Amino acid sequence: MRVTAIAPSNIAFIKYWGKKDEILRLPANTSISMNLSNLNTTTTVEFSKDFENDSVEINKSTTDAPRVIKFIDIIRKRANIIGKVKIVSENNFPTAGGLASSASGFAALTVAATTAAGLRLSEKELSILARIGSGSASRSIPDGFVEWHEGDSSDTSYAESLYPADYWDIADVIAIIDEGKKDVPSTEGHKSAQSSIFFPDRMKNINNKIKNIKEAIRKKDFPQFGEIIEAEALEMHAVMLTSVPPLIYWQPATIRLMREVINWRREGLSVYFTIDAGPHLHLICQKKDERNVTKRLILIEEVEKTVINSPSAGARIITATSGF
Ligand code: PMV
Repeated sequence: MRVTAIAPSNIAFIKYWGKKDEILRLPANTSISMNLSNLNTTTTVEFSKDFENDSVEINKSTTDAPRVIKFIDIIRKRANIIGKVKIVSENNFPTAGGLASSASGFAALTVAATTAAGLRLSEKELSILARIGSGSASRSIPDGFVEWHEGDSSDTSYAESLYPADYWDIADVIAIIDEGKKDVPSTEGHKSAQSSIFFPDRMKNINNKIKNIKEAIRKKDFPQFGEIIEAEALEMHAVMLTSVPPLIYWQPATIRLMREVINWRREGLSVYFTIDAGPHLHLICQKKDERNVTKRLILIEEVEKTVINSPSAGARIITATSGF
């Protein structure tokens, strides 16, 4: 069977940075995210004994992708199949530029490959499997606003939906600052988190922060929510900056934009930022302010592009047909 799936990327409001188990990809803490409507990966998978080799095509170019094949081997073993695989995958945004391509990529791959292999997994099982591919991919399986429980074993570390996509009309306007590839991929970066002197303090306070953000989302209290996500992004970057060796994901334009957002807020526009392992800013606002935020961003020279996102459903199958 040939199966095509689509999966959204997601933006974390409470970040996953650092692991307590490297092999199982168990995160150091629970994280909270929202799926993004306009950053997604579409992936087609087929297994066949007629294929001579495994083949992986990402964004129209053939690659070796050992991490992808290792992941496919887990699925082949579980489904007890021996056929070679053909994978064709496309992102509608730049790969590996700090825009979480691994989240949408491994979520789409998990759904397409397990279905193509004849497995019928629950959402929880899909999230666990996606996590093994890439931690944040576990959060791109369920719908809308998502919590990834850190767990203490593979079976207890999975994501589930807190609220569906239409629960809250908020937007993520991404300001893309530099489309080049980032220096240190997040998989590498996670390993250094514990070397920051701030990491133990972050862990001490994280459960309290999670409780507060869940409360803000439940009440749809936007300013309370915004204050938490902005402080959280700065805290994660404080850990990155003080890791050994230090990780500096920001560009000069990242800092300029952070200052702009704080100024816009002083002028009465309710907008907050968050940042992942890259230079781009995610400007989180209410839907009613989305155009105003975008208009202001377009006037800033260093902003190469903006991508407006609303909350989105999670990974899903688009087509399943028999054979090529
Ligand atoms: O799943 P990874 O290894 O790409 O890690 C994602 C790390 C951050 O984007 C920085 C934070 C997060 O929770 O998404």
